[in-house]
Amino acid sequence: MNSDTHAAPESVAPAPVVMPVAATIARRVSCRAYQTRPVAEARLNQILEAARLAPSACNQQPWRLAVVREAELRRRIVEKGFLPGLKMPWALVAPVHIVFGMERSFVTHRLAPAISGVNYPWVDLGIAGEHLVLAATELGLGTCWIGWIKPRVIARLVGWPRSIRPVVVIPVGYPVETESAPLPATRRKPLAELVRWL
Ligand SMILES: Cc1cc2nc3c(=O)[nH]c(=O)nc-3n(C[C@H](O)[C@H](O)[C@H](O)COP(=O)(O)O)c2cc1C
Repeated sequence: MNSDTHAAPESVAPAPVVMPVAATIARRVSCRAYQTRPVAEARLNQILEAARLAPSACNQQPWRLAVVREAELRRRIVEKGFLPGLKMPWALVAPVHIVFGMERSFVTHRLAPAISGVNYPWVDLGIAGEHLVLAATELGLGTCWIGWIKPRVIARLVGWPRSIRPVVVIPVGYPVETESAPLPATRRKPLAELVRWL
């Protein structure tokens, strides 16, 4: 028998049920109030693994991650590695900072954007970062993307060579909100403003 016989045509395929990933996406918010409670290394490894599995252009995997748990180093990241104008003292309370850096030494990463105009490594880092953030959300951990940084200062603090450029710092920790506290409503543009159906 042809195996296609049993394949449901697209028009009658059952509507997808809400899957855990959708619930995780809906639950994620930027966390700007952390508990000092440490995060177990096994949990950190789980979220790092989620970043590792991200897709990337030419499978170059340009992301590099520095996991900063030392309090003094976190303090220096917040006090010296963030740009002025946006006060983010709450980041200091988070027991872990994950610095996402971009390895820039790949030839393909230089050539391809020059031809297509698409800067793939930035796309790759966004995907890997959000993998990590969503995995953290699933584990009940809070995160916040912090892009208002001084890349050179942070590279020096975490001991990266010149080929790795810090892109964001993501504090990770248990949020101060209790389970029952309502999450802030996330403001987003309506799909009608964003999507063109053709
Ligand atoms: C690339 C990037 C950089 C960001 N940089 C900062 C930052 O420096 N400081 C900060 O407090 N939030 C930062 N954010 C968080 C955004 O402000 C936040 O995602 C947005 O307001 C939507 O809110 P939500 O994350 O709670 O849904 C950044 C987010 C992204 C994706």
